[in-house]
Amino acid sequence: MISLKDDNTVKGNVRALKYISFLFPDDANCEDAMVRKMVVPLHCSLNMLEGDTGCSIWPASLFLSEFILSFPDMFSSKTCFEVGSGVGLVGICLSHVKASKVILSDGDLSTLSNMKLNLKMNQMSTEDDEPVTSECLDSFDHAQIGGIRTEIDIISSPQVKCLHLPWECASESILQGLKPDIILGADVIYDPLCLPHLVRVLSILLDKTKSSSRLPGVGCGGAIGSSHDYSDGCGSHDVVAACNSAGYAGPTEHPMAYFSSVIRNANTFDHFLALVDKENLAITDLTGTLQPASLLPYMQSYDRLSMRLLKLSSK
Ligand SMILES: C[S@@+](CC[C@H](N)C(=O)[O-])C[C@H]1O[C@@H](n2cnc3c(N)ncnc32)[C@H](O)[C@@H]1O
Repeated sequence: MISLKDDNTVKGNVRALKYISFLFPDDANCEDAMVRKMVVPLHCSLNMLEGDTGCSIWPASLFLSEFILSFPDMFSSKTCFEVGSGVGLVGICLSHVKASKVILSDGDLSTLSNMKLNLKMNQMSTEDDEPVTSECLDSFDHAQIGGIRTEIDIISSPQVKCLHLPWECASESILQGLKPDIILGADVIYDPLCLPHLVRVLSILLDKTKSSSRLPGVGCGGAIGSSHDYSDGCGSHDVVAACNSAGYAGPTEHPMAYFSSVIRNANTFDHFLALVDKENLAITDLTGTLQPASLLPYMQSYDRLSMRLLKLSSK
């Protein structure tokens, strides 16, 4: 890791360039198997709260990245949209597995500019902002929630777009225009004040009637009870068995959401489940069912065991 102290150091913000190295054993059963490596350089902050947390790399995004890289067929040729994208790692992985379109978003402007820097550094997004009409006036700031903004910023590259999208003021028409096959989110279930807005966004994006995908998506998930039937899933399987036992249904035209999360506060998580239920969304815990390969063996500070993988869809 190379530490880059910038002018913000005096304010306590220390920037670092981190290299995330994903190692792919070509054949896990063969001892002398070749190992492929994918290295993703990322600018991030060592101050966890800079950019409303979005300039740090959170373990949930490492887990979601491992998930995407472990099950590339679920994402290739799909339109993928991420909420609360932070440093942009998930988008870089989606691009790597050849998602047909990758749209990243965040409500925080400093996070968004750091994300763009990271995309550029990974040879992805270099174009200038492309303004898009929105109802959201204020840049994301919890103190300013409720304001109206006339523009949101979109940066586009051939593959990746970055969208300034605070959940509080994401209009229905903008969300419906995105038409993702797959919605993703890593470590976005933590602030009780934001959760109703996040779930509203999800509900619009997952609405089968209004937000149906242009391309067929792939569903891989288990039987769903009510959202309060939330459970830990059913143990480890290989990929095919996991998909079969989890009810892999092949192509479907309905959008799906995959969220990775650490449950820090049970009450907050229960609040999320209650909101999901109220919006008539289905939620399944895939944690034990669809385990991603361990592609970050050297990242010792990353505790995979605390991760949850959730699938959401409309009922
Ligand atoms: C804990 S960070 C996770 C970042 C990234 N997904 C990761 O796992 O590394 C939460 C992210 O959600 C964004 N966020 C929080 N509240 C938001 C809101 N109300 N609207 C849009 N984005 C929000 C933050 O700016 C931040 O990037």
